[in-house]
Amino acid sequence: MSAIIADPVSALAAHAQGALARQRVRVYPEFFTRPEQLSDEYRQYLIKVLTVQLASEYQDRHRRPIAPSADWIEDVGIQLRGETEHGLGLVDILRSLGVDPMPEVERAQIASPDARLLDVFRKIIRYQVDDAATTDELWISVGIGRWLVERGGGYQSLAAVGSNYLPWAAWSARNFKDEGFEHSNSGKLIAKAAIEKGHRKIVQEMFTEIWPYAVDMFGQNDSPNIRRFMELGIKTVGNREVRLAWLAHVRAEAKELGVALPANPLKGHRGDYSA
Ligand SMILES: [Fe+2]
Ligand SMILES: [Fe+2]
Repeated sequence: MSAIIADPVSALAAHAQGALARQRVRVYPEFFTRPEQLSDEYRQYLIKVLTVQLASEYQDRHRRPIAPSADWIEDVGIQLRGETEHGLGLVDILRSLGVDPMPEVERAQIASPDARLLDVFRKIIRYQVDDAATTDELWISVGIGRWLVERGGGYQSLAAVGSNYLPWAAWSARNFKDEGFEHSNSGKLIAKAAIEKGHRKIVQEMFTEIWPYAVDMFGQNDSPNIRRFMELGIKTVGNREVRLAWLAHVRAEAKELGVALPANPLKGHRGDYSA
């Protein structure tokens, strides 16, 4: 039996490959585990991202009980419990930084659909509070919303899984798993079931309508803000890369379901991110 031995790599080539890897993966000299280890600037940026995230965890509480079967009622319950746990995790981190998070939680919970933080939530909740929609349409809006937006929320958390502030990195890993996979996979299954039930046209229309709002969720490809987040180590992946990772995932699934993406899938209402 002959052993498989890799070709020897010259020291120069190894160094060049290492340099390339270092450009792609940010390495931080130290990790922080306690709030008092953070600089004032770091705390301010971290509080900013935590507060935005906290509001989004409490954005979808106006949902009408429209799940079509006991299985799906349980599934909705599992998702809402997950969101509550995400919210409580953020509450803990904010409190540890000396911030009272409750005014933010209350603001998010009582805000009218028109005052939602992100356009995409406003759009989806509109479907769900308008009396015009049928029960099937309401449920499909839940499905498409989860598929595109929970998947997007999960991928945004991927940007912070490598953070050098470990409580925030751990929170982000959980959110990536829950939103980027569990919640969004069931959203895709709702769309799939609706197609099988003969609602392909509605699924496609809602998908096309919600899509540009979902694309906008990730923010600008580049900005001084996102660069500073990355320099500090609060996020380790940029908005452009996160949006492209989300697109690759959703594109493959849309193909599987026979749902068409817009001609320019990187165009939102707030900007064209294909540049
Ligand atoms: Fe969440
Ligand atoms: Fe969520």
